[in-house]
Amino acid sequence: MTTSASPTAAVPTACVIGWPVKHSRSPIIHRHWLSELGLAGDYVRHPVEPEQAAAFFAGFATGPFVGCNVTVPHKEVAFAAVDHADAVATALGAVNTVWLEDGRLMGSNTDAEGFIANLDHGAPGFDANPGAAIVLGAGGAARAVIWALQARGFAPIHVINRTRDRAEAMAERFGSDIHPAGWEDLPALLPQASLLVNTTSLGMEGQPPLVIDLAAARDDLLVTDIVYIPLETPLLKVARSRSLKTVDGLGMLLHQAVPGFERWFGRRPVVTPELRRLILADMGVTETGVAA
Ligand code: ATR
Repeated sequence: MTTSASPTAAVPTACVIGWPVKHSRSPIIHRHWLSELGLAGDYVRHPVEPEQAAAFFAGFATGPFVGCNVTVPHKEVAFAAVDHADAVATALGAVNTVWLEDGRLMGSNTDAEGFIANLDHGAPGFDANPGAAIVLGAGGAARAVIWALQARGFAPIHVINRTRDRAEAMAERFGSDIHPAGWEDLPALLPQASLLVNTTSLGMEGQPPLVIDLAAARDDLLVTDIVYIPLETPLLKVARSRSLKTVDGLGMLLHQAVPGFERWFGRRPVVTPELRRLILADMGVTETGVAA
């Protein structure tokens, strides 16, 4: 697969920039939609070293790309570099989707929308009676999740993090409905919560597992994990064994890609089971999370 575009790309070409970026599955998603919709276009991985990120955005308007996704570690640099950041990107201080409007560099952040769309799809009505939510982690991903949960009316939102300062920074950013907490507080908070989200890297392939006791949880607790490798994380496994409703994290990756595609290529794509299967096949797993 192509990893970068020539300066004279023959068709409208978008990219994902990051460092490293070779593991990004975004090209599979966007190329699938381009092909489905019969559009001329392309989407490539474009590795950009941290020292080059500001220069990449400074030259964007005269470069070969119609737009880009931005992944780790460039989202904050992208926010600082765009001429205009929309409301959600401004609230998060991070940009993951960039496009041009009359030569101006525009930025949004679609992680929050992707997170919510995944829940809307996997657990319709999950926010019918929003109550207390627990968010595990206080990094960049947690910011998007907290913003999204606040927008859907969840309160209070307990943010549990190993490093207390980072949980407190979430309260400073998002207000008094955000309650910073430590892992030792989880057993006392669980019985009140209607939603539990893991945004830490715990449970990801190659990382320590997320070991959690859900015995005290309400029977209607919805559990979701933004980690999607493995598809069934240790957290989701424990939740399912307790007969709790779960939503895995792969849909967030798929749904966050929708708005960028629409900006760059002019048509709103749909997240389908077929697209999900395509990504799962690339991951080498089947729908049940078992190695193919
Ligand atoms: P991202 O932008 O993907 O959210 P991040 O900003 O590095 O990534 O955040 C990673 C999150 O996982 C943090 O909440 C981190 O906790 P700290 O803020 O205390 O570092 C959490 N995390 C990672 N490894 C962890 C571990 N071994 N135990 C507990 N929390 C961990």
